[in-house]
Amino acid sequence: MSLRPIAGPSRRLILPCTRSHSTASRPTPSHAYAVPPPLPSRPGPPPPPPPRTEATSSRPNLTPDQHDLIARIVRVDQAGELGANWIYRGQKWGSAVRGDKKTAKEVEGMWASERHHLAVMKLVQQQHRVRPTLLYPLWQAMAFGLGAGTALMGREAAMACTEAVETVIGEHYDDQLRALKPLLESTASTAVSPINPNADTVADADAVTPPHPSLPLLASVLEEFRDDELEHLDIAVEGGAQKAPGHSLLSAVIGFGCKAAIKVCERV
Ligand SMILES: [Fe+2]
Ligand SMILES: [Fe+2]
Repeated sequence: MSLRPIAGPSRRLILPCTRSHSTASRPTPSHAYAVPPPLPSRPGPPPPPPPRTEATSSRPNLTPDQHDLIARIVRVDQAGELGANWIYRGQKWGSAVRGDKKTAKEVEGMWASERHHLAVMKLVQQQHRVRPTLLYPLWQAMAFGLGAGTALMGREAAMACTEAVETVIGEHYDDQLRALKPLLESTASTAVSPINPNADTVADADAVTPPHPSLPLLASVLEEFRDDELEHLDIAVEGGAQKAPGHSLLSAVIGFGCKAAIKVCERV
């Protein structure tokens, strides 16, 4: 993934938000996992009923390569959500130190959805038995420092930090959804007819095995989180991110750091 300069209206740098046309086919939201509901961040209908527990309590039968893909996705997302929590924690602290109640309140709103994201990712990590990143303490310290440092620089710098981080994370969730797509497709069955075992395989074209329900659930969680991150990006831009002193440099440095952290967390 190449580094792209973050300038101008960042929202345009992200793939279009697909919430409006993906909701209908989305099997379940993250509420399927038994975590406290997030603070309401947008108006809309109540969440649909929880899915079959199989989707949240069992694991798919995957090849080693497929499991490696899921492990990388879950590990880096859990680490990313942890980092986001500590960035916002730092921003809230830094804003409070400056006496900037307005920014602290906006930061708290975004932090609330990050707490929900982290809680869900922990359950996903446990369900798929993925080892968490070994760099938790490092990410906590770095993320808090980034959030606090930019917030101490001023409201616009804090928003520029959020803009840069959420730009990278939004793109990252889209990359993961593309990588996950092959696992969401039904596979053709080669089952033999139970009536006549000597016959050709059962209607071969019609007999398909749907993906394990945990996989479309994971995709729906990634979509939901991606859309939340893009909302945070919008809040940051509207909050004056691009008026921050040294905006281009700040965005480039933070964006590069996020991408480097993603690469490390996928493996470590
Ligand atoms: Fe998040
Ligand atoms: Fe976010």
